[in-house]
Amino acid sequence: IESRLDYIKELGVGAVWLSPIYKSPMKDFGYDIEDFKDIAPVFGTMEDFRSLSRAMKQEIDIKLLLDFIPNHSSDQHEWFKKSLMKQEPYTDYYVWADAKGVDDDGKPMPPNNWKAVFGGSAWEWKEERQQFYLHQFLKQQPDLNYRNPKILPWSVDVLQFWLDQGVDGILLDHNSVNQTKIMIVETYLPVDKVMDYYGNKTRSIAHFPFNFELITSISHNITAAKVYNIIQTWMEHMPQDAWANWMVGNHDKSRVATRFGPELVDAMNMITMLLPGTPVVYNGEEMGMEDTDISWRDTKDSAGINAGPTKYKLFSRDPERTPMQWNSGKNAGFSTANQTWLPVNPNYVSLNAEAQLAAEWSHIKVFKLLVAARKAEPLVFGAYLHLQKVVKLYCLPKNLKNKEKIKNFEIPGERNLITNPDTYIRINKHMRVKEGHPGYMVVVNFSNKTETVDLTKMAHVPDISTVYVFSITYAHQFSVRSRISNKDVTMPGIGGLVL
Ligand code: GLC
Repeated sequence: IESRLDYIKELGVGAVWLSPIYKSPMKDFGYDIEDFKDIAPVFGTMEDFRSLSRAMKQEIDIKLLLDFIPNHSSDQHEWFKKSLMKQEPYTDYYVWADAKGVDDDGKPMPPNNWKAVFGGSAWEWKEERQQFYLHQFLKQQPDLNYRNPKILPWSVDVLQFWLDQGVDGILLDHNSVNQTKIMIVETYLPVDKVMDYYGNKTRSIAHFPFNFELITSISHNITAAKVYNIIQTWMEHMPQDAWANWMVGNHDKSRVATRFGPELVDAMNMITMLLPGTPVVYNGEEMGMEDTDISWRDTKDSAGINAGPTKYKLFSRDPERTPMQWNSGKNAGFSTANQTWLPVNPNYVSLNAEAQLAAEWSHIKVFKLLVAARKAEPLVFGAYLHLQKVVKLYCLPKNLKNKEKIKNFEIPGERNLITNPDTYIRINKHMRVKEGHPGYMVVVNFSNKTETVDLTKMAHVPDISTVYVFSITYAHQFSVRSRISNKDVTMPGIGGLVL
């Protein structure tokens, strides 16, 4: 990572979040931790870590965030081994429960019907203790028992340890060193419940809980209306003055280019980069990396392995975890080894960072311009207007057929904005404005048909705009810094524009 900091800096990234780097048997790619204060040899040593942290801080001023997993440890953690043997004080460090009884074959029955995220019961029987233990994820990831008053102070101690190594993120404002630290929380819950993790006026919790809505609420059939709904839902539920965040891809879900199609890569980056708040980008999304087809033999993810050879593709997260595609050299420039952890996507020959940086126009070039724009006043402090803000019908595709109904719909201050009702599901627009500064407008066509949009129908939009950036699919139609009429912006099929 240290050797690639130039690239990260060139993209304009402000902070790097590392997925778990701790000592681990790697049953869940590091999310099963054997020692919370040590580094897995496969990733290096503590000295390597300090060196990375120093280089990021002193040379390029990029923040370093670590992934902390308070919910569970590995079953190879010494606490679990001792807890299993009822050695004090570890006996109740994990969640143990008696069997509910025995089944017809005389086998102990779990205390209840809870299911693990990766399949099967969330309870695992241990002969040694004659009890079940709880594991919400893999059986190699026993849940820690936070009802035991020793566990919370332990997790604070682990956080302190890493903050002392120079990490910038995980914990709330850490005043003793007089530096602002950040804490982000991961939870997969409905939006209204996720919001609880912002805390409230009297008790703050995280700076923000991850917003996975663009990942979990739309899979393949993406439309402007769905994206609009997701953005609006988050903004409306967020507590006043809270800070938003947006994530379209991560290490647990299929790549953006594979889910939505490669043509939408730039447009999704435009939307998320230019919304209020922090965009969180999974490595490789800046260049539109795609899922890799992984054979059963090459499968590493336990979520896939547990599902067996016929169903593994439904659950395995390996396809989105293949090596970063740096260049067209051996192993895409990721490793000099003869074999990599997961196979490299064969498309690396043309789809790689080096090629995209050299190309005249590419996903990375679009991405860099989007990041650069984020320094502009309207994008940091400006208001956010969503230009579909007008009717409730957008979420009822059935009603969209009822053109009469839509025509009669009164749009306050923005009458006749939607002349063609189908536009609701095709075009997505949002605007960022601040008095005294040129505003930014993001316009995305989600349909594969050419759409001509009259942007002047909307309040505050001038007759002429300057093109800031456009999808690579629009390269034949637009050029950077050219002036266009907002009255009839022609968008040739799937793609986006920032004006
Ligand atoms: C988080 C990680 C995921 C992991 C899970 C269990 O959700 O993103 O990769 O499997 O935690 O630790």
